[in-house]
Amino acid sequence: MSSKGFIFDLDGVIVDTAKYHFLAWKKIADQLGIEFTEENNELLKGVSRVRSLDIILELGRKEVSQQDKNKWLLQKNEDYLSQLVDMDSSEILPAVFEVLQFLKDHNQPIALGSASKNARPILEKTGILSYFDAIVDGNDVTNAKPDPEVFLIAAQLLNIKPENAIVFEDSVAGIQAANIAKMTSIGIGDKTVLHQAKFIFKDFTKISQEFIEDLIKAP
Ligand code: BG6
Ligand code: MG
Repeated sequence: MSSKGFIFDLDGVIVDTAKYHFLAWKKIADQLGIEFTEENNELLKGVSRVRSLDIILELGRKEVSQQDKNKWLLQKNEDYLSQLVDMDSSEILPAVFEVLQFLKDHNQPIALGSASKNARPILEKTGILSYFDAIVDGNDVTNAKPDPEVFLIAAQLLNIKPENAIVFEDSVAGIQAANIAKMTSIGIGDKTVLHQAKFIFKDFTKISQEFIEDLIKAP
């Protein structure tokens, strides 16, 4: 048995913030006159704020000045943050807390690997910051998922080899990043969307303690 480490994405894995990101982007798209569906939104999951705006503009075949881009980016983040003002532990997705506690009880190192620049305040507001031995977020990386940078830094901070890292992700870009890094990718969400993941679960309530024990014990 080699020592393992568990890396969690944030948005859509730990907390149900993916819906707030979508709603905030949808408002921007509406103002730009660009059609933007939930299916389009899969392209934005796991992707940085700046890249997300570019994807929306590409979808609408629109070009805007850098000044306008900055204005939309600011508006998106203000709108998104306004949804988080009253955030508390009730926003933690089902069974996430139990999995974190199980890993802690089994002395497993835990890291966050998120594209978001708002990750720390979210972990603080939901009261789970202390579960994380390392936090790597959008402020720490230069290359967005599917580039594996965020997960490779997390593995380094946990002092484990990439192949001993287990990554929980709800985005296609994040699953690709974990696979490129040769980590064990676990998709949380729709199995059609996340088919590139090694394992896929609808949510954490579907993950058994035996499954996690097997991950910990795997050679
Ligand atoms: C990712 C989300 O976790 O973070 C994306 O899946 C989001 O939807 C990205 O755009 C950046 O987040 P933020 O909070 O820095 O705008
Ligand atoms: Mg996510």
